[in-house]
Amino acid sequence: MNKLDGKTMDLVQHNIDELKKLFPEVITEGKIDFDRLRLLLGDEVDTGKEKYEFTWPGKSDCIRLSQQQSTGTLRPDKESSKDWDTTKNLYIEGDNLEVLRLLQKAYHRKVKMIYIDPPYNTGNDFIYKDDYKDNVKSYKEKTEQSMKANPATAGRYHSEWLNMMYPRLRLAKNLLSDDGAIFISIDDTELDNLKKICNEVFGEENFIACIAWHKNYASANDSKGFSSVLDYILVYRKSENFVRNLLPRTDKQNSLYKYDSNDGYGPWRPDNLSVKTYSKEYDFTIINPTTGVEYNPPKGRCWVTNKNTIDKWIKEGRVFFGQTGNGAPQLKRYLNEVQQGVVPITYWSYDECGHNDEARKEIKQLFSEPPFDTPKPTRLIKQILNISTNKDSIVLDFFSGSSTTAHAVMKLNSQDDGNRKFVMVQLPEPCNEDSEAYKAGFPNICEIGKERIRRAGENLKEEYKDKEGIENLDIGFKVFKLDTSNLKAWDPDVEELEGTLKGMVDPIKEDRTQEDMLYEIMLIYGIDLTIPLEEIQIKGKTAYSVGLGYMIVCLEDGLTLDVIEAIGAMKQSGQEIARVVFRDSGFADDNVKTNAVQLLKKFGIEDFRTI
Ligand SMILES: C[S@@+](CC[C@H](N)C(=O)[O-])C[C@H]1O[C@@H](n2cnc3c(N)ncnc32)[C@H](O)[C@@H]1O
Repeated sequence: MNKLDGKTMDLVQHNIDELKKLFPEVITEGKIDFDRLRLLLGDEVDTGKEKYEFTWPGKSDCIRLSQQQSTGTLRPDKESSKDWDTTKNLYIEGDNLEVLRLLQKAYHRKVKMIYIDPPYNTGNDFIYKDDYKDNVKSYKEKTEQSMKANPATAGRYHSEWLNMMYPRLRLAKNLLSDDGAIFISIDDTELDNLKKICNEVFGEENFIACIAWHKNYASANDSKGFSSVLDYILVYRKSENFVRNLLPRTDKQNSLYKYDSNDGYGPWRPDNLSVKTYSKEYDFTIINPTTGVEYNPPKGRCWVTNKNTIDKWIKEGRVFFGQTGNGAPQLKRYLNEVQQGVVPITYWSYDECGHNDEARKEIKQLFSEPPFDTPKPTRLIKQILNISTNKDSIVLDFFSGSSTTAHAVMKLNSQDDGNRKFVMVQLPEPCNEDSEAYKAGFPNICEIGKERIRRAGENLKEEYKDKEGIENLDIGFKVFKLDTSNLKAWDPDVEELEGTLKGMVDPIKEDRTQEDMLYEIMLIYGIDLTIPLEEIQIKGKTAYSVGLGYMIVCLEDGLTLDVIEAIGAMKQSGQEIARVVFRDSGFADDNVKTNAVQLLKKFGIEDFRTI
């Protein structure tokens, strides 16, 4: 019988396993033989002292930090959730470093798009300081006190920001699916540093774009230097499997197609008939059939196709010689030929994607006094969703602030009948007691983020109430809160012998519920937190059927062989039970425990664990 060790994904071990797959010969007695690895890599090994690299104080520590396993867990909070039983969306309260660690197994390669809008390090924003020894404990202490910002005057100003970002990006990368991409908002302060660490974490070859977004429609006339009106969005893909979607055409773009020849092909606009990529076959003279004037392509260019095709097009009326028919040849570009969409460009105007003021107005429409100062417009996030997601993608935002990303996901789903799911992560950063937000009853940013999703979801249902299928729009979310593990063994406070011995009898902390433990088990196993769960009774004991019976968890005391027999009978009646988890101290006696293993094996259930 195996005991669940309560640990989440071990990234170092994962890396060793991956290396083992590639070069089994370099692992001796579970350790890596670096000399042999060097031999296998031949000339590609960089042995010189000087090399091109980007570094800062604390970099090695933050690589280590990103590989540490979490000692925390996520505890369900049904009360502040919405549509708990049916929703596939998640709202997680906690420091995102720890939350990303906890999601490593369950969301490994599952997220199609990550959008983040981290603190820009402008001096006024909040930079969370990680604790290298016990991050969860320190998080708990910090949330109970007030958190402190990284002031602009602090030494190592860029270093602290990099130390905060680097491990989070490393962990985020593991969650992206192979066809996924990450979009990161930033301004001039850290753009160059961010690009350098992203090149390192995601690989230079996976850089897709640096988008300039025109965020302000007015310039600041009191600005001492230049008035900055741009934000940037860095885009990196996980691998070459990422394919960007085309953007839907806007009415403004379609309005350029203002001619109609009533030839059954619909609206068109005149377009250039010549191209730059030269081909001798496409370089010939076109004669205007009305005037007989000869036209050659401009110097160094040629026509878009060969003479036969152009002659055919002239006969069919596909070549336009101006309104009077006396002009130079142009191509009739029909709207129905380009309707699939538009290739995104790297400049995003506020006409197209909104601006900061619009974002604040959006929040003001939901709350009378806007409780959050730095939101992004939903149109901006919708543009990103359009480019990078499919209708059923999982979208993650781990600096979610006022939950604009969740709002945009629900909005796009209601417009295109999508079923995208969101995962929001946000620190319960306290609101200043003098702020409007605090006075309006929002003690921290998580409360604002959750309330925005509730209000925005209801509004969308109302706005689209006449649309078929709108009743299926998922406007719910399951709330989880970061906390210390439910297992005593993981609590560094249980240090004395007496505590440890007691802990071995019952490993679960007294103030934790069976449901708390159930979700910790799901995280350890890497099971999606939104998978269907059912509370069932087995021979008078409460148990949980996870994923339609895939895993049965029973954490009750006094378990007898009756319970095991009943689980076996469920398997025999056709339920796909693959694993069973009990409490180690839950068996009526040692005999039951020993026989349980054999009995479950007899029923074909090999994966049997205890905690
Ligand atoms: C610029 S805001 C994001 C705004 C968001 N895009 C919106 O539209 O509302 C950055 C957010 O990241 C949060 N944050 C900072 N450090 C964090 C951490 N370690 N874990 C989770 N959230 C964090 C801050 O509390 C802040 O709300």
